[in-house]
Amino acid sequence: MEKKVLTSTEIRSRFLAFFEERGHAILLSASLVPENDPSVLFNTAGMQPLVPYLMGERHPSGVRLASIQKCVRTGDIDEVGDSTHLTFFEMMGNWSLGDYFKQEAIEWSFDLLTNSEYGFALDPQRLYVTCFEGNDDAPRDEESADIWREIFKKHGVTGERVYFLPAKNNWWSPGDNGPCGPDTEMFYDLTGKLTHGMTFDEYKKTDEDQKVVEIWNDVFMEYVKKDGKVVGKLENKNVDTGSGFERVVTVVQGKNNVYETDIWTDTIMETRNISDNQKSERVIADHLRTAVFMIADGVTPSNTDRGYILRRLIRRAVFNTKTKKISKHEVQKIVATIIKKYDGVYENVVTQEEKIISEIVGEAEKFEKTVVTGLKRITDLFKKENNIDTFALDNNDLFDLYQSSGFPVELSLEEIDRERVSKGLSVIDNDLRKKYLEKFNEEMKKHQELSRAGAEHKFKGGMGGTGEVETRYHTATHLLHQALRDVLGTEVSQKGSNITAERLRFDFSFPRKMTDEEKKRVEDIVNEKIALKMPMQKVVMKKADAEKTGALHFFGDKYGDEVNVYFIGDDIETAYSKEFCGGPHVTNLSELGHFMITKEEAVSAGVRRIKAILD
Ligand code: ALA
Repeated sequence: MEKKVLTSTEIRSRFLAFFEERGHAILLSASLVPENDPSVLFNTAGMQPLVPYLMGERHPSGVRLASIQKCVRTGDIDEVGDSTHLTFFEMMGNWSLGDYFKQEAIEWSFDLLTNSEYGFALDPQRLYVTCFEGNDDAPRDEESADIWREIFKKHGVTGERVYFLPAKNNWWSPGDNGPCGPDTEMFYDLTGKLTHGMTFDEYKKTDEDQKVVEIWNDVFMEYVKKDGKVVGKLENKNVDTGSGFERVVTVVQGKNNVYETDIWTDTIMETRNISDNQKSERVIADHLRTAVFMIADGVTPSNTDRGYILRRLIRRAVFNTKTKKISKHEVQKIVATIIKKYDGVYENVVTQEEKIISEIVGEAEKFEKTVVTGLKRITDLFKKENNIDTFALDNNDLFDLYQSSGFPVELSLEEIDRERVSKGLSVIDNDLRKKYLEKFNEEMKKHQELSRAGAEHKFKGGMGGTGEVETRYHTATHLLHQALRDVLGTEVSQKGSNITAERLRFDFSFPRKMTDEEKKRVEDIVNEKIALKMPMQKVVMKKADAEKTGALHFFGDKYGDEVNVYFIGDDIETAYSKEFCGGPHVTNLSELGHFMITKEEAVSAGVRRIKAILD
C-alpha cells in the first residue's frame, strides 16, 4: 500500500492538535511587527512575543503554550532561491513556563516527529540529535542525552545518535540580555541511507555536506544573561522549542527542496511565467509572499526600517522578472495564489487582498521609474569617466546609486557590460565581477553598521519613533553648519540638507576637499558643544529684525513676515548658532549623543557634501 503523503495543512493541524491534547493553550500568531519592542524590526522566532513570560510574568492562558508564529529573517536574502532559504517562514513551538522540563519536552518531540497515526510519520532511524557539551556557564547536558538514549533504545533505533557540541551550536539565547540555556537539536537524514547511526566524525562530515537538516530545537531555559554573561538562574525553568514549519513539510513530503512542497507548487507555476530561470522564479515567489504578510501586518514601503526592507523585497522581486516590470494583472494572480494557501490560517491576508495588491503594484511602478532614472544617472557617470576599465571601482558610485534610488547593483553591472561592449571591450569577467561586488558589499556593510548603531541607540535611549531620531539630526545639522564656518570660514553656506533616521547629509559651498585635520576639528567642536549641554531655543520675530540678529538663512527658501529663529545658547545675542528654521529641534544638545563625520565628498564644482551620524 502506498503511504499517503501528509499535506502542509495536515502537518499544521497535527502539530496544534498534539499539543492541545497535552494541555497546551494554542496561541494565535502574533503580528510580524513586534509590539513594544523597538530593538527588533520583525519577529524572528516563535519565542519572541513570549519573552516577558519566559522571564517570569504570568501568561493569561496558563503554563503550557503552543503556537505557529510568523517570522521574518532577511540576513541571508542573497541565498534565497537555493533549496532551503526563505525570508518569511512559520515556526512551530511549544512552551512550558515553569511546568514540565526535559523529560516531557524530548519525549513529545520524538513522538510527534515519528508517530504515524497522529504525528509526522518520520522514520526514527533517520533521526540524529545534538546536546550541549558544557562550559564555564553551565555543565554538560547529560540529562538530555540520557533521555534521548533511552528513547532510541525503546524504539529499536540502533547505533550512535547523540553528539555533544559547544555553545556555538547548542546554547540558545535571543540576545545579550534575558533568558537562555542549553538546547538539544534534532536532525533528519535527507539521503534516507544513513539509518544505522554514525560516529561523531561521520556525523560532523554529514552535517557539513548538508545531508542532514535541523528540524527541531528544544531549548531548556534555566539561566539569565546580562551583557552577554550568565549572571544567574531563572526562578522557574522554562522550555522553549522551535521547529521550522517549511523545513518539516519538506522532509515529511520526502523532498530535499522547500520549493517542491505543496506550500509553493501553485505559486511557482505563476512566477515561472514571468521569469527566465529557476532561481528567479523562486526569488519572486519568496519575496512576494513575505511582502504579502508584511503589508497585512501594517508595514508600508518606505526608506527606513521595516518599510525599507519591504521596499527592497518588492524591488528585488520585480528585478528578478524577465522584463524588470510586473503588471497589475500579474501581481493579482500571484498574490491571489499565495493568499489562497493561507485561507483559514491567517485571516488578515485574506481580508486585505486588495490593499496588498495595490501596495505591491504601487511600489513596482515606482521601481520602474527608478530603473529609468538610474539608467540615466549611470549614463551620465559614463560620460564623466575616462577609463572604463576601472569604472566605479575606486569610488562609491554604484552603492550611492543603489542607496539613493534603489538601483540594483546587478543592473549597474549589466549597464557597464553594455558600455564596455560599445567601446570594443569584453564583458565583465568573473574576476572583475568579484571586484565590483566586493566594493559594493564593503560599502553596504559600512552602511549596515551605521544603521545598526542607530537602531541600538534608539533602543537604549528609549527613543521610540523615527521622528525623534530625525529631530536630533536636525539640531546636529545646525551645529555642523556653524562648526564648518568656524573651521573653514564664513564663505561656507548651506546648499542643501537631507535627514533620515540613519544619518544627516549636508551640502555646502566650499571649493576643495577638506583635510582630515579639518574634519576632526569640526567633529571636536560639535562634540564639545554637546558636552556643554547647551540649550536650543526658539524665538518668533519679524523677518527684518531676525535678519539684524545675523541669523543664517538658506537663500533657496521663502520666508513669511514672521519667522522662527532657532539659536543654541543662553540668549540670542551671544548664541553659538542662529538660524531661520521651522524646526522641530531638541531642547538641549545633551540629547544628541556622539557626533561623527562618516564621509566628505564633492557634489559638483564648489559644492561639498558631508554625511554624519549620531551614536
Ligand atoms: N527559540 C528557539 C529557536 O528559535 C527554539 O531555535
